[in-house]
Amino acid sequence: MPVHGLANNLTEYGDKEFALYLRRSFAKAMGFSDEALAKPIVGILNTYSELNNCHRHFPQLVEAVKRGVWQAGGLPLEFPTISLGEVFLSPTSMLYRNLMSMDVEAMIRAQPLDAVVLTGGCDKTLPALLMGAASADIPAIVVAAGPMLTNQFDGERIGACTDCRRFWATFRRGEIDRETISTVEGQLAPTPGTCSVMGTASTMACLVEALGMMLPGGASIPAVYADRMRHAEAAGKQAVDLIRRDLRPSQIMTPAAFDNALRVLQAIGGSTNAIVHLTAIAGRLGIHLDLERLNQLAESTPVLADLKPSGQAYMEDFHQAGGMQVLLHEVRDLLALDLPTVAGMTLLERLDEPYTYPTWQEVIRSAREPLQPEGALIALRGNLAPDGAILKTAAASPELFQHRGKAVVFQTPEEMEETINDEKYKDIITKDSVLVMLNTGVKGYPGFPELGDLPIPNFLLKQSVRDMVRISDARMSGTCYGTQILHICPEAHEGEPIAFIRTGDEIELDVEN
Ligand code: FES
Repeated sequence: MPVHGLANNLTEYGDKEFALYLRRSFAKAMGFSDEALAKPIVGILNTYSELNNCHRHFPQLVEAVKRGVWQAGGLPLEFPTISLGEVFLSPTSMLYRNLMSMDVEAMIRAQPLDAVVLTGGCDKTLPALLMGAASADIPAIVVAAGPMLTNQFDGERIGACTDCRRFWATFRRGEIDRETISTVEGQLAPTPGTCSVMGTASTMACLVEALGMMLPGGASIPAVYADRMRHAEAAGKQAVDLIRRDLRPSQIMTPAAFDNALRVLQAIGGSTNAIVHLTAIAGRLGIHLDLERLNQLAESTPVLADLKPSGQAYMEDFHQAGGMQVLLHEVRDLLALDLPTVAGMTLLERLDEPYTYPTWQEVIRSAREPLQPEGALIALRGNLAPDGAILKTAAASPELFQHRGKAVVFQTPEEMEETINDEKYKDIITKDSVLVMLNTGVKGYPGFPELGDLPIPNFLLKQSVRDMVRISDARMSGTCYGTQILHICPEAHEGEPIAFIRTGDEIELDVEN
């Protein structure tokens, strides 16, 4: 008979009855009645922090989760975890993802919890929560922050964070002054919630829904909508149901579910960072994701979501267009459907209701008229990347897919920053050059930084050059676009072969082959 509630994971005093008596006594010190303490316990992992703007609304969100848990007959107990606010961490938030996952796993394992509600959103938080929950493997359900709303500036619609970068490039080109950029700074992120484009945070939220670890619709309801609170309440209720069914992450996040997630990643044209995060989550369950499988799925999955950074729309538009429900319907024939989800139904049952493609919108294209017939994210190999590299073709310039140019190599980010805009390099760095950044991979630089979006030199920006082939062993922010070959493996720090590239060497990119 499994132990539930307070009797779970007793403190070691050499006397179990004493440990339970003491625990009950101290729980009563918090004002709980015997009736409340007899209920199954749902832990709510709260990633609220005043150093995480995306989670600003979590006090209210967590209250909604608690309402749901109480309604379903559980005892909700909230506790904090490490929170990772993307732009508030040095050198990068990535350095702390695994630390957060260890915090999550250890606290789930150590405390008397029958199920957990994982609240997160900002880039590394959902991956860390799922990694920890996968290892602890007790019933778990995710409630995401939801995306920010967009704003207006000078008659133009703007949102974090693709527009953050676009305005900064405009400022660097001297097209707007310091006063204007400082006004823009105050308008880019107008509400709580995660960045308003299909960056890493929204990509991961969509993939968590595709994996089956979130209630339907949870990936895209804007953070400030009342529906977001109702969704959180429903997730609280569902957590209690998961205890009854003893449905665990390892039963939901199967190899077939990860295939579905990789399919959805292609269809939404999601962030390259998702490959790094999905691999880590799957790894916690002993599931190996490889680049061959990524390419197999890319070859047969159309790109459907027309969202920034590669497209036009924002996450609130994706939501209004039907969100993941429409997207999943459009790729339904490509998915494994007979898979359990936290919603108490299989993916097949979720998608079995009558469906008509919503023709009134253009944000989620139909599978018959995709934005791109295949391959939003692909793995490349070559003599510079024998173990692989990643290119987001959906955000790159097709005219650069066949390209030959002379390398301009930066050994460190510091060297790149000092050099790239120096006019004396005008004759060396041309629009056909291939910019190469080394020593910024997992081992080569603290925190595997998002330096793959190498800046185009100001003197080329002024000549209207908007894209160049760029190669690095770094990552790239999910809000960036351009022809960047990322995650070169083995990385330069390991000694070969990318480490031997020198300025002036000729590099050929041939995406098709
Ligand atoms: Fe949190 Fe972009 S800063 S999702």
